[in-house]
Amino acid sequence: MGMMKINNIQDIKRSEGVIVFVTGCSGQDGSLMVDYLLKNTNYNIVGGARRLSVENHNNIKHLENEPRFHLINFDLTDSHSIYKVVEYVKPDYFINFAAQSFVASSWDFARQTWECNSTAVLDCLEAIKRLKPDCRFYNAGSSEEFGNVEYEPQDENHPSRPRSPYGASKAAARQLVKVYRESYGLYAVQGWLFNHEGPRRGEEFVTRKITKGVAKIFDGIVNWKKGKLKPIELGNLNAIRDWSDAEDVVDAVWRMLNQDKHRNLEYSASLGGFQHMCRTSLKDYVVGSGEKHTIREFVEKAFELVGINGMWSGDGVDEHLWYEGGPRPLPSNDCVLVKINPKYYRPAEVDVLCANPTKVEKELGWKPKTTFEGLVDKMISNDLTLIDTRV
Ligand code: GDD
Repeated sequence: MGMMKINNIQDIKRSEGVIVFVTGCSGQDGSLMVDYLLKNTNYNIVGGARRLSVENHNNIKHLENEPRFHLINFDLTDSHSIYKVVEYVKPDYFINFAAQSFVASSWDFARQTWECNSTAVLDCLEAIKRLKPDCRFYNAGSSEEFGNVEYEPQDENHPSRPRSPYGASKAAARQLVKVYRESYGLYAVQGWLFNHEGPRRGEEFVTRKITKGVAKIFDGIVNWKKGKLKPIELGNLNAIRDWSDAEDVVDAVWRMLNQDKHRNLEYSASLGGFQHMCRTSLKDYVVGSGEKHTIREFVEKAFELVGINGMWSGDGVDEHLWYEGGPRPLPSNDCVLVKINPKYYRPAEVDVLCANPTKVEKELGWKPKTTFEGLVDKMISNDLTLIDTRV
């Protein structure tokens, strides 16, 4: 496969059919959204990705010859970039999956996080309001907005109590989305997405870090490569998260963008039709599995699925997971599978997140397909196929 063709925005002629613009299209969610739309609609999709000197198009490589997919260079933090797309492409849907999405980095790059996740969302809303007011806009919100939670599971009424610059930036964006919806009748929504994962997940996020590490350790044990038996270094093992399959989650996003198809919304021509419906009836939804698991449980499940037994010992920073048996006995017993590295602790932690997805299930008919175990299995199976067997 060669380089992905990058299109000029001006060359993407506004065609007869519906056009969906997806930002962050080379990321996990953006690329899955594109796949979902190709499969479930006959729309044309324009995907925006940042230009990098070393390109990273792994998640969209398979779309190289897809006639309904058009890749463009796009930077969410450049308002001209946003305006150009809205002006030339005039999208019917604008799905914003571009973000500074890594919570841990948001303390180191707080301003960049803010500009990308909050200010840029304002630019999107303004551009849509001025140039394509009937364009439906989705912004990726987060359970990190709930932060230091007041109750479990969290529903749409849970207050905003962010614990990181990332959470604060998403909470601010939510207010902007709401204000533009209520002031101008834009179809603008922002779901609260709980953690969602899969084989396309970036390697710094804890789930992928674990499945990748487990696959390497498995290979190291089976083929006895001593140097390859590096323990996975993690931070807080006791944090509780609600993990879903990102493929299921993009389906919920599309449902949020088409609420009129799933709910009986008040659409009165005399009251102002579309705008009235947007102002009065649209809702933001919580999307998650409703199941809680610790990071420790994720680790255990990943090792269990490749047939490796481990035994925890020690506390806090001294905690270790030791090899207890598996595909073969090892020449030495002192094999550590997991250890703690305090550099992965965060300045402030969100201890527990768990969704109450009742509304999205009842009102939009959303139903996740993948279980927790199915998700870990899917990720680990993929990482096993990526092991470099030459070394
Ligand atoms: N990344 C990482 N690396 N996290 C670790 C590690 C480690 O080595 N060790 C423990 N953790 C803990 C973190 O402290 C956190 O409590 C949890 O694992 C999950 O971390 P991440 O996978 O980085 O995700 P997140 O929960 O901070 O944020 C993700 O979910 C949000 C929705 O709740 C991201 O996808 C956000 O963009 C998203 O909004």
